[in-house]
This record gives sequence, C-alpha cells and structure tokens, in this order.
Amino acid sequence: MGKALDGVRVLDFTHVQSGPSATQILAWLGADVVKVEAPTGDITRKQLRDLPDADSLYFTMLNCNKRSITLNMKSERGKELFTQMIGKFDIMVENFGPGAVDRMGFPWEKLQELNPRLIYASIKGFGEGPYTHYKAYEVVAQAMGGSMSTTGFEDGPPLATGAQIGDSGTGMHAVAGILAALYQREQTGRGQRVTVAMQHAVLNLARVKLRDQQRLAHGPLKEYPNKEFGDTVPRSGNASGGGQPGWAVRCAPGGPNDYVYVIVQPVGWEPITQLIGRTDLTEDPEWATPEARLNKLDKMFQMIEEWSINHSKYDVLAMLNKHNIPCGPILSTKEIIEDESLRANEMVVDVPHPQRGTFTTVGMPIKLSDSPAEVERSPLLGEHNKDIYVQELGVAEEELTELSANGVI
Ligand SMILES: CC(C)(COP(=O)(O)OP(=O)(O)OC[C@H]1O[C@@H](n2cnc3c(N)ncnc32)[C@H](O)[C@@H]1OP(=O)(O)O)[C@@H](O)C(=O)NCCC(=O)NCCS
Repeated sequence: MGKALDGVRVLDFTHVQSGPSATQILAWLGADVVKVEAPTGDITRKQLRDLPDADSLYFTMLNCNKRSITLNMKSERGKELFTQMIGKFDIMVENFGPGAVDRMGFPWEKLQELNPRLIYASIKGFGEGPYTHYKAYEVVAQAMGGSMSTTGFEDGPPLATGAQIGDSGTGMHAVAGILAALYQREQTGRGQRVTVAMQHAVLNLARVKLRDQQRLAHGPLKEYPNKEFGDTVPRSGNASGGGQPGWAVRCAPGGPNDYVYVIVQPVGWEPITQLIGRTDLTEDPEWATPEARLNKLDKMFQMIEEWSINHSKYDVLAMLNKHNIPCGPILSTKEIIEDESLRANEMVVDVPHPQRGTFTTVGMPIKLSDSPAEVERSPLLGEHNKDIYVQELGVAEEELTELSANGVI
C-alpha cells in the first residue's frame, strides 16, 4: 500500500529530540527522510548509552525510518554537495542553536534562491525578541511556557512534567506547519518558511492555564482545591481545574503507582455513591449536585479513596467503567512497555537493529487507514552515504573515500 507522503523528500538537519520527533513522523507518513549529520554524528547517538558500542536508545527511538548521511557543512566541498543536493528535496528541517544554518552560509534567502519550492522548517527555543539568541532544552521551555509554574502542589516547588511537551510537543507543532506548507505549495508552487518556538508550543499546550489567569480577575477558582488565591494561577496538584472535577485516589496494594485518576461528571454521582456504599448521599442536597459538591471536593475524593484503597487499580478501572465513569489507572513505564493492548495497537513495538539486537520503541500515534506506518530501525551513521552521494549526486566512488578521509563526510 502507498503512503500519504510518498515522493516527498526531507533533508533532515535535526538533532537531539525536538526536530527528530518531527521528521520521524514525516518518515512514518511515507516521506523519504535523509538525516544529515556532522561526521561525528548526532550527539544523542552516544548519549545515555546502555550498550557500549551501539547507538543509544535516545537515538534509535527518535530516528526510525530515516536514512543517514554525513556531511561537514563547514567545509567548502561540503557546501558544494549541499548546494547540489538541496534542489532535490521538498523540505528541510533543522533545530540547531540560533543562527547556526546562517553561519553555515545558507540563510533562508539563499535557500529560497537555490530551491524556490523548498519548505524550510526551524525549531528554536524562542520567537523574535529578547530571547531569540538563547539556546533551549525541554525543561527551559516548560519553565517559560507556563507549564512549570502550574504543575505541582501548592506547597512545593514548580515541577517539570515527564512528557516531553517542550521537545516532542514542539516537534508535533512543526509537523502541522510543514504539512500545511506542503499543501499550500500545491496551489502556489512556492515553498515557505515554517518556524516553531518551544516556548510557544508549550504555551499553546498550557492554554487553559491562561484561561484561568483571566478568570481569577473575577474571583477564586472554585474548581481548584486551593483555599487561597493570589494574582496568579496556583499549582493545583492533581486537580483537573476544568469543568469536571478529578483527582488521583489510592488503590491496593498501595505501591507508588497504585492510583486511579477519577473524574466525577454529574451523571457519575449516583453510581459512585452505590459503588462506595454511600447511597445515603445520592439524593442528599448537600451532595447531589455538582455545585453542592464544589466546596468539598477533597471530602468527596477522600470517600472514594476509602473505597478504592481496597481494590487494585485495574479492578477500579473495570468497576468505574462499568458505569461509564471516566478514570485512568496510573500506569508505570514497566506496565506500559508490557501492555498487551498498546502492543496490539502497534504503539509499543520491537524493532531489530544490527548493533543492538532488538529494541523496543513507541510506534506511530497517528493512524491513517490508507497509509499505515511500519516502524523500521534507525540508520547507522552515514549508512546511506553511497546511495546519496554516488548514486544520486554522481560523486565517483574514489572521491567518496577521499571525502571520508578528509573529514568532508
Ligand atoms: C539543543 C541545543 C541547545 C544544542 O546546542 P549545541 O549542542 O551547542 O549545538 P548547536 O545546535 O548550537 O550547534 C552545534 C554546532 O554544530 C555545527 N554543526 C551541526 N551540524 C553540522 C554539520 N553537519 N557540519 C558542520 N557543522 C555542523 C553547527 O553549525 C553549530 O556550530 P556553530 O555554533 O559554530 O555555528 C541547540 O541546538 C538549540 O538551542 N536548538 C534549538 C532548540 C531545540 O531544538 N532544543 C531542544 C533540543 S531537544
């Protein structure tokens, strides 16, 4: 079966996580993604290694279905090869520190001149302004995008979330921009510049906290468990703070992840009172309506916990869902990697790799009926040099050896 992006070619200058997460999605959608690495390779090939002489999981889990070539963009011959190559690609993506591609000698104006159909996407930490020239990593973006100040408990410090909303979250925003630009090119014949800042992407994901910042002007946030409010949205622990209250309640046998996150919609109250053995509260005006419960949500979840603590989180999941009550057991990473349903959905997949044996990775989360993704291993460093330089660009085989000896590739 064909793929959605068959025939689309991506010259992938990304490294670490944010950029690679974006180009991996493009590869799963069927694009030919050629990753260009300095001859020393993406730094993550060697970071956090679990096996001495094999590409790290950090690298293999973010670079599936791509090809790899090496190219020293600071050498004259390297620049020539790039100039020859760029006309053959539809999309170029990079997430170097600010100004790095310009310093290589290829600002946007020059790239446009070389290939007017090129879509050129960049991920940076920040937009235009005082921070433009600053580098950024995941938690920097969480800090400056509104996530950290609103995550954690009221009496504790700001917290980073484990989900990589700054890196992979930004990568997904970049994918949206790239695909839209590709579609617009169908009409205009012109490529365009796509830029996404990590701070902006996190802010987009923290949108509802800006909603609450404005609601604060009209009084306390009743849906928050906090008793006192200042002039900024407080950290609210595990409260959703949204239209339907939720909290993580403890379950048996009381391990660190033996919790279920329970949401009490208006229709959920009656079955919950039955399950927890408090039918005396079903119709009690002090408890029967969402408004009546609003000032005692902590007591409500405490009562639910007095019940849930006697059952495993999977039993609680089943019992609550029997009554259509939305809830989610807190799954550990070990439980997730062993989860049969995630494997059946190809969200946890095993991939053979020549250096590592088989590694496990997270599959393609976007499912297309006419363009199913098949996860293939990440490339070894420079594995496709010959394909691109010799077969495609017509570099002589002897020169390839020379280029390698001279540090050009
Ligand atoms: C992630 C980040 C902080 C890493 O910083 P870093 O390790 O210092 O690396 P940089 O990206 O700044 O640049 C590395 C250098 O390698 C050079 N380089 C990269 N690929 C090259 C190649 N193929 N050939 C020659 N030089 C190359 C760059 O030109 C740059 O050199 P310069 O600064 O002398 O111009 C930085 O890349 C960044 O802020 N990126 C944007 C935001 C981002 O994506 N962050 C999240 C990462 S998950």
